[in-house]
Amino acid sequence: MTGPVIKCENVYKIFGANAQKMLHASNGKVDAKTFQENGCIVGVNNASFEVSKGEMLVVMGLSGSGKSTLLRCISRLTDATGGKIFIEGQDLLQLNNKELIELRRNKMGMVFQSFALLPHKTVVENIAFPLQIKGIKTDDSISKAMDMVKLVGLDGRENYFPRELSGGQQQRVGIARSLAVEPDIWFLDEPFSALDPLIRKEMQDEFLRLQEKLQKTIMFITHDFDEALKLADRIAIMKDGIIEQLDTPANIVLNPATEYVRKFTEEVPREKVLLIEDVMEKSKDNLGDIKVSKDEIIENVAEKILTQEKAVAVVNNDNEIIGSINPNKIINTVFGGRKNNN
Ligand SMILES: Nc1ncnc2c1ncn2[C@@H]1O[C@H](COP(=O)(O)OP(=O)(O)OP(=O)(O)O)[C@@H](O)[C@H]1O
Ligand SMILES: [Mg+2]
Repeated sequence: MTGPVIKCENVYKIFGANAQKMLHASNGKVDAKTFQENGCIVGVNNASFEVSKGEMLVVMGLSGSGKSTLLRCISRLTDATGGKIFIEGQDLLQLNNKELIELRRNKMGMVFQSFALLPHKTVVENIAFPLQIKGIKTDDSISKAMDMVKLVGLDGRENYFPRELSGGQQQRVGIARSLAVEPDIWFLDEPFSALDPLIRKEMQDEFLRLQEKLQKTIMFITHDFDEALKLADRIAIMKDGIIEQLDTPANIVLNPATEYVRKFTEEVPREKVLLIEDVMEKSKDNLGDIKVSKDEIIENVAEKILTQEKAVAVVNNDNEIIGSINPNKIINTVFGGRKNNN
């Protein structure tokens, strides 16, 4: 398939009895305050974007900014009030019930904050359950579920009941259950939020490992910027239902589109986000002996550059010198003010 896997065109979700009417009257210019005065709550306000195959889009924003609502519209757990949503080119709002159920069973996976594991089923039975709903034979579903148990590192615990597992382990069962159906498109709404930092980090690593292997198209909601930086190909930042910026992590930090985004990213350590390419200079004069790739994250090569006296050559994938980076530049990036440098 070519083209985006997920495509949203001017998507609105407005809650309230008059939602449809007010949206129509507004001509697409939705002002949350006016709507609220008329008894409507704006959940998503004019969202347009695409997610391509194998891409991980992370959605961020303060509580109430519309992240979950956006995800619920795209998975059609709720109907958007206006706009169009396409999944692999199919118009989501035109699907009938049967087609929608098909899509959910076979294509989309969802992981929500509370996993709703079945308390009287074991780990492996919980994971096999959606496969059985799909009509897969018990033996086959259990064998597939066991593969998933291994994938999320729970082997040996397959016969435990949810109450015998830690919170993190329960979350892994939820993830395994959703993965078992092999969805091409995966929606995750703060899946790691309840975990303590150590398990959380472990889950993130595991998640990246899985994604490397499985190349799903993913929308992932988180409150945690570090998590977003670690996982995202691109990040969408929402405020009051509006996507204020949707861009690569580096661009969001370097070129915040709005004051809100700037505030949001102010504390982000730049060296974790920016690539050498983002801060290099064009000059190729007076270079020292060592080289760094343009695609390195600054943090990973900072030490190497800082110990040089001369500028360091920056090379592309063909090992051609395309510019240079000066140790001073690294110092500025890493230790300089986060507000307006570069
Ligand atoms: N069913 C509903 N009826 C009315 N308003 C709703 C409904 N669901 C969500 N909202 C409102 O829509 C807005 C966006 O809510 P949403 O749950 O999408 O926020 P969120 O960004 O996911 O927040 P959080 O980070 O707290 O999960 C909020 O103002 C919320 O009150
Ligand atoms: Mg939410």
